[in-house]
Amino acid sequence: MKNIVIGLAGCEHLASSVATHLRATSGSVVMHNYPDGEVGVRLLTDVRGCAVVVVAALDRPSLKILPLYFLLDLLKSSGAVHITLVAPYLPYMRQDKQFNDGEAVTSAQFARLLSEWADKIVTVDPHLHRYASLDEIYGVPTVVVHAASRIADWIKQNVVKPVIVGPDGESKQWVARVAQEAGAPYVVLEKERLSDVDVHLHLPTQSQFDEQCTPVMVDDIISTAHTMIALAKTVVPLAVRKPVCVGVHAVFSDDALHGLHAAGVERVVTTNSLSHVTNAIDISNDICDALL
Ligand code: R5P
Repeated sequence: MKNIVIGLAGCEHLASSVATHLRATSGSVVMHNYPDGEVGVRLLTDVRGCAVVVVAALDRPSLKILPLYFLLDLLKSSGAVHITLVAPYLPYMRQDKQFNDGEAVTSAQFARLLSEWADKIVTVDPHLHRYASLDEIYGVPTVVVHAASRIADWIKQNVVKPVIVGPDGESKQWVARVAQEAGAPYVVLEKERLSDVDVHLHLPTQSQFDEQCTPVMVDDIISTAHTMIALAKTVVPLAVRKPVCVGVHAVFSDDALHGLHAAGVERVVTTNSLSHVTNAIDISNDICDALL
Protein backbone atom coordinates (compact mmCIF):
# COMPACT_ATOMS: atom_id res chain seq x y z
CA MET A 1 0.00 0.00 0.00
CA LYS A 2 1.28 3.46 -0.82
CA ASN A 3 2.17 5.67 2.19
CA ILE A 4 1.55 9.39 2.21
CA VAL A 5 2.78 11.75 4.96
CA ILE A 6 1.16 15.11 5.63
CA GLY A 7 2.76 17.57 8.06
CA LEU A 8 0.64 20.34 9.54
CA ALA A 9 1.96 23.76 10.60
CA GLY A 10 5.03 23.52 12.81
CA CYS A 11 5.58 19.84 11.93
CA GLU A 12 6.94 20.16 8.40
CA HIS A 13 10.46 19.12 9.39
CA LEU A 14 9.31 16.07 11.36
CA ALA A 15 6.90 15.08 8.57
CA SER A 16 9.71 15.22 6.05
CA SER A 17 11.89 12.91 8.22
CA VAL A 18 8.97 10.52 8.58
CA ALA A 19 8.37 10.52 4.82
CA THR A 20 12.05 9.71 4.17
CA HIS A 21 12.06 6.96 6.82
CA LEU A 22 8.90 5.33 5.48
CA ARG A 23 9.93 5.88 1.85
CA ALA A 24 6.61 7.63 1.57
CA THR A 25 5.32 10.46 -0.57
CA SER A 26 4.82 13.86 1.05
CA GLY A 27 1.22 14.97 0.71
CA SER A 28 -0.04 18.53 0.47
CA VAL A 29 -2.89 20.21 2.18
CA VAL A 30 -3.80 23.89 2.23
CA MET A 31 -5.46 25.37 5.29
CA HIS A 32 -6.95 28.78 4.60
CA ASN A 33 -7.92 31.02 7.51
CA TYR A 34 -10.91 33.16 6.58
CA PRO A 35 -11.26 36.64 8.10
CA ASP A 36 -14.23 35.48 10.18
CA GLY A 37 -12.15 32.80 11.93
CA GLU A 38 -13.44 29.85 9.90
CA VAL A 39 -10.96 27.58 8.13
CA GLY A 40 -10.94 26.08 4.67
CA VAL A 41 -9.16 22.76 4.09
CA ARG A 42 -8.09 21.59 0.64
CA LEU A 43 -6.29 18.33 -0.10
CA LEU A 44 -3.92 18.56 -3.07
CA THR A 45 -2.77 14.91 -3.04
CA ASP A 46 -4.70 11.87 -4.24
CA VAL A 47 -4.98 9.56 -1.21
CA ARG A 48 -7.28 6.89 -2.67
CA GLY A 49 -6.21 3.44 -1.44
CA CYS A 50 -3.34 4.94 0.59
CA ALA A 51 -2.21 4.75 4.20
CA VAL A 52 -1.83 8.34 5.38
CA VAL A 53 0.28 9.62 8.27
CA VAL A 54 -0.69 13.07 9.55
CA VAL A 55 1.86 14.80 11.79
CA ALA A 56 0.30 17.50 13.96
CA ALA A 57 1.45 19.78 16.78
CA LEU A 58 -1.47 19.75 19.21
CA ASP A 59 -0.41 22.35 21.74
CA ARG A 60 -3.02 25.14 21.94
CA PRO A 61 -5.50 22.42 20.90
CA SER A 62 -8.64 24.55 20.90
CA LEU A 63 -7.35 26.40 17.83
CA LYS A 64 -6.14 23.29 16.04
CA ILE A 65 -8.64 20.57 16.69
CA LEU A 66 -11.39 21.62 14.28
CA PRO A 67 -9.02 22.03 11.30
CA LEU A 68 -7.54 18.63 12.21
CA TYR A 69 -11.00 17.07 12.22
CA PHE A 70 -11.82 18.61 8.84
CA LEU A 71 -8.61 17.17 7.39
CA LEU A 72 -8.94 13.66 8.86
CA ASP A 73 -12.58 13.45 7.78
CA LEU A 74 -11.62 14.70 4.32
CA LEU A 75 -8.89 12.06 4.06
CA LYS A 76 -11.40 9.31 4.84
CA SER A 77 -14.00 10.60 2.40
CA SER A 78 -11.24 10.94 -0.22
CA GLY A 79 -10.45 7.22 0.00
CA ALA A 80 -7.56 6.91 2.49
CA VAL A 81 -7.75 3.37 3.88
CA HIS A 82 -5.75 3.92 7.08
CA ILE A 83 -4.93 7.10 9.00
CA THR A 84 -2.15 7.35 11.59
CA LEU A 85 -2.08 10.53 13.61
CA VAL A 86 1.36 11.44 14.92
CA ALA A 87 0.76 13.93 17.74
CA PRO A 88 4.12 14.15 19.54
CA TYR A 89 2.46 16.21 22.27
CA LEU A 90 -0.86 14.77 23.40
CA PRO A 91 -2.89 17.52 25.08
CA TYR A 92 -5.54 17.31 27.80
CA MET A 93 -3.85 14.37 29.55
CA ARG A 94 -3.50 16.26 32.84
CA GLN A 95 -7.28 16.50 33.30
CA ASP A 96 -7.45 12.83 34.23
CA LYS A 97 -10.13 13.01 36.90
CA GLN A 98 -12.94 15.26 38.00
CA PHE A 99 -11.03 17.65 40.27
CA ASN A 100 -14.13 19.77 41.02
CA ASP A 101 -17.84 19.01 40.97
CA GLY A 102 -19.37 19.43 37.54
CA GLU A 103 -16.03 19.40 35.73
CA ALA A 104 -15.47 17.57 32.43
CA VAL A 105 -12.78 14.89 32.36
CA THR A 106 -11.38 16.30 29.14
CA SER A 107 -8.64 13.67 28.73
CA ALA A 108 -11.32 11.03 28.14
CA GLN A 109 -13.48 13.29 25.99
CA PHE A 110 -10.50 14.26 23.85
CA ALA A 111 -9.46 10.62 23.54
CA ARG A 112 -12.93 9.68 22.30
CA LEU A 113 -12.74 12.36 19.62
CA LEU A 114 -9.31 11.37 18.29
CA SER A 115 -10.25 7.69 18.41
CA GLU A 116 -13.14 8.38 16.05
CA TRP A 117 -11.02 10.36 13.63
CA ALA A 118 -7.80 8.31 13.36
CA ASP A 119 -7.06 4.58 13.14
CA LYS A 120 -3.84 4.76 15.14
CA ILE A 121 -2.09 7.35 17.29
CA VAL A 122 1.63 7.81 17.87
CA THR A 123 2.79 10.16 20.61
CA VAL A 124 5.73 10.98 22.87
CA ASP A 125 5.67 10.60 26.67
CA PRO A 126 2.00 11.36 27.28
CA HIS A 127 1.22 12.60 30.80
CA LEU A 128 0.16 9.25 32.28
CA HIS A 129 -0.57 9.85 35.94
CA ARG A 130 -3.89 8.35 36.99
CA TYR A 131 -4.15 6.31 33.78
CA ALA A 132 -1.72 3.39 33.57
CA SER A 133 -1.84 3.47 29.78
CA LEU A 134 -3.51 5.29 26.91
CA ASP A 135 -5.60 2.16 26.27
CA GLU A 136 -7.78 3.18 29.22
CA ILE A 137 -9.20 6.10 27.26
CA TYR A 138 -8.16 5.66 23.60
CA GLY A 139 -10.25 3.28 21.50
CA VAL A 140 -7.62 2.82 18.76
CA PRO A 141 -4.08 1.39 18.94
CA THR A 142 -1.56 3.83 20.37
CA VAL A 143 2.24 3.80 20.29
CA VAL A 144 4.22 5.72 22.91
CA VAL A 145 7.74 6.96 22.16
CA HIS A 146 9.95 7.67 25.18
CA ALA A 147 12.41 10.56 25.19
CA ALA A 148 14.40 9.44 28.27
CA SER A 149 17.36 7.92 26.38
CA ARG A 150 17.83 11.00 24.21
CA ILE A 151 17.55 13.28 27.25
CA ALA A 152 20.08 11.14 29.15
CA ASP A 153 22.50 11.28 26.18
CA TRP A 154 22.19 15.06 26.09
CA ILE A 155 22.88 15.31 29.83
CA LYS A 156 25.92 13.02 29.59
CA GLN A 157 27.36 15.17 26.80
CA ASN A 158 26.54 18.60 28.23
CA VAL A 159 26.36 18.60 32.02
CA VAL A 160 29.09 18.32 34.65
CA LYS A 161 28.27 16.10 37.64
CA PRO A 162 24.48 16.07 37.10
CA VAL A 163 21.91 15.44 39.83
CA ILE A 164 18.52 14.86 38.23
CA VAL A 165 15.67 16.62 40.04
CA GLY A 166 11.94 16.11 39.48
CA PRO A 167 9.32 18.55 40.79
CA ASP A 168 6.76 15.99 41.93
CA GLY A 169 5.79 12.32 42.13
CA GLU A 170 4.27 12.49 38.65
CA SER A 171 7.68 13.30 37.21
CA LYS A 172 9.33 10.27 38.82
CA GLN A 173 8.59 8.04 35.82
CA TRP A 174 10.74 10.28 33.60
CA VAL A 175 13.27 11.39 36.19
CA ALA A 176 14.17 7.88 37.39
CA ARG A 177 14.66 6.60 33.85
CA VAL A 178 16.73 9.59 32.75
CA ALA A 179 18.87 9.32 35.89
CA GLN A 180 19.46 5.60 35.38
CA GLU A 181 20.45 6.04 31.74
CA ALA A 182 22.63 9.05 32.54
CA GLY A 183 24.26 7.23 35.47
CA ALA A 184 23.33 10.08 37.80
CA PRO A 185 21.60 10.31 41.21
CA TYR A 186 18.09 11.72 41.39
CA VAL A 187 15.65 13.23 43.85
CA VAL A 188 11.93 13.95 43.46
CA LEU A 189 10.19 16.76 45.36
CA GLU A 190 6.62 16.98 46.65
CA LYS A 191 4.42 19.51 44.86
CA GLU A 192 1.31 21.36 45.93
CA ARG A 193 -0.34 23.35 43.14
CA LEU A 194 -2.57 26.04 44.63
CA SER A 195 -3.54 27.56 41.25
CA ASP A 196 -2.34 27.62 37.62
CA VAL A 197 0.49 29.94 38.65
CA ASP A 198 1.01 29.20 42.34
CA VAL A 199 3.15 26.13 42.97
CA HIS A 200 4.77 25.07 46.28
CA LEU A 201 7.50 22.43 46.44
CA HIS A 202 9.06 20.51 49.31
CA LEU A 203 12.51 18.90 49.07
CA PRO A 204 12.54 15.67 51.15
CA THR A 205 16.35 15.39 51.30
CA GLN A 206 19.42 17.39 50.28
CA SER A 207 21.73 14.38 50.44
CA GLN A 208 22.09 14.08 46.64
CA PHE A 209 23.52 17.58 46.33
CA ASP A 210 27.06 18.68 46.85
CA GLU A 211 28.54 22.04 45.96
CA GLN A 212 30.08 20.87 42.69
CA CYS A 213 26.99 19.19 41.23
CA THR A 214 24.75 20.61 38.54
CA PRO A 215 21.04 20.27 39.31
CA VAL A 216 19.23 19.09 36.17
CA MET A 217 15.51 19.69 36.53
CA VAL A 218 13.49 17.26 34.40
CA ASP A 219 9.73 17.24 33.73
CA ASP A 220 7.44 16.22 30.90
CA ILE A 221 5.60 19.50 30.21
CA ILE A 222 6.79 23.08 30.59
CA SER A 223 3.70 25.23 30.25
CA THR A 224 3.54 28.32 32.49
CA ALA A 225 6.92 27.10 33.87
CA HIS A 226 5.77 27.89 37.41
CA THR A 227 6.58 24.30 38.41
CA MET A 228 10.14 24.57 37.08
CA ILE A 229 10.54 28.11 38.46
CA ALA A 230 9.57 26.90 41.95
CA LEU A 231 12.02 24.02 41.51
CA ALA A 232 14.80 26.36 40.41
CA LYS A 233 14.25 28.54 43.48
CA THR A 234 14.60 25.42 45.64
CA VAL A 235 17.79 24.06 44.06
CA VAL A 236 19.71 27.26 43.24
CA PRO A 237 20.95 27.68 46.85
CA LEU A 238 22.07 24.03 47.00
CA ALA A 239 24.86 24.11 44.39
CA VAL A 240 27.48 26.48 43.06
CA ARG A 241 26.54 25.63 39.47
CA LYS A 242 23.30 27.06 38.14
CA PRO A 243 20.58 24.51 37.31
CA VAL A 244 19.74 23.24 33.83
CA CYS A 245 16.07 22.79 32.94
CA VAL A 246 14.99 19.94 30.63
CA GLY A 247 11.44 19.46 29.39
CA VAL A 248 10.02 16.89 27.00
CA HIS A 249 7.21 19.10 25.66
CA ALA A 250 7.91 22.80 25.07
CA VAL A 251 4.40 24.18 25.51
CA PHE A 252 5.65 27.50 26.98
CA SER A 253 2.86 29.95 27.64
CA ASP A 254 3.39 33.72 27.96
CA ASP A 255 6.81 34.70 29.33
CA ALA A 256 7.59 31.28 30.81
CA LEU A 257 11.09 31.14 29.31
CA HIS A 258 12.02 34.54 30.68
CA GLY A 259 10.73 33.49 34.12
CA LEU A 260 13.00 30.46 34.13
CA HIS A 261 16.11 32.49 33.39
CA ALA A 262 15.07 35.10 35.96
CA ALA A 263 14.86 32.29 38.55
CA GLY A 264 18.53 31.48 37.96
CA VAL A 265 18.35 28.70 35.37
CA GLU A 266 21.52 28.50 33.27
CA ARG A 267 20.02 26.75 30.26
CA VAL A 268 16.58 25.53 29.18
CA VAL A 269 16.42 22.64 26.72
CA THR A 270 13.56 20.61 25.30
CA THR A 271 12.94 17.87 22.79
CA ASN A 272 11.51 18.78 19.41
CA SER A 273 8.15 17.14 20.16
CA LEU A 274 6.93 20.73 19.78
CA SER A 275 8.90 23.26 17.78
CA HIS A 276 10.46 25.89 20.08
CA VAL A 277 13.61 27.98 20.40
CA THR A 278 14.73 25.72 23.30
CA ASN A 279 14.72 22.52 21.20
CA ALA A 280 18.10 20.78 21.61
CA ILE A 281 17.18 17.09 21.82
CA ASP A 282 16.10 15.47 18.56
CA ILE A 283 13.56 12.66 18.91
CA SER A 284 12.51 12.49 15.26
CA ASN A 285 14.33 9.18 14.62
CA ASP A 286 12.49 7.58 17.54
CA ILE A 287 9.16 8.74 16.16
CA CYS A 288 10.09 7.42 12.72
CA ASP A 289 11.12 4.05 14.19
CA ALA A 290 7.76 3.81 15.97
CA LEU A 291 6.03 4.05 12.61
CA LEU A 292 7.88 1.20 10.91
C1 R5P B 1 2.01 18.15 35.68
O1 R5P B 1 2.03 17.38 36.63
C2 R5P B 1 3.10 18.16 34.65
O2 R5P B 1 3.93 17.04 34.79
C3 R5P B 1 3.94 19.41 34.72
O3 R5P B 1 4.63 19.46 35.94
C4 R5P B 1 3.07 20.63 34.58
O4 R5P B 1 2.19 20.49 33.53
C5 R5P B 1 3.91 21.86 34.39
O5 R5P B 1 3.06 22.95 34.24
P1 R5P B 1 3.57 24.42 34.43
O6 R5P B 1 4.73 24.62 33.51
O7 R5P B 1 2.38 25.26 34.03
O8 R5P B 1 3.93 24.62 35.88
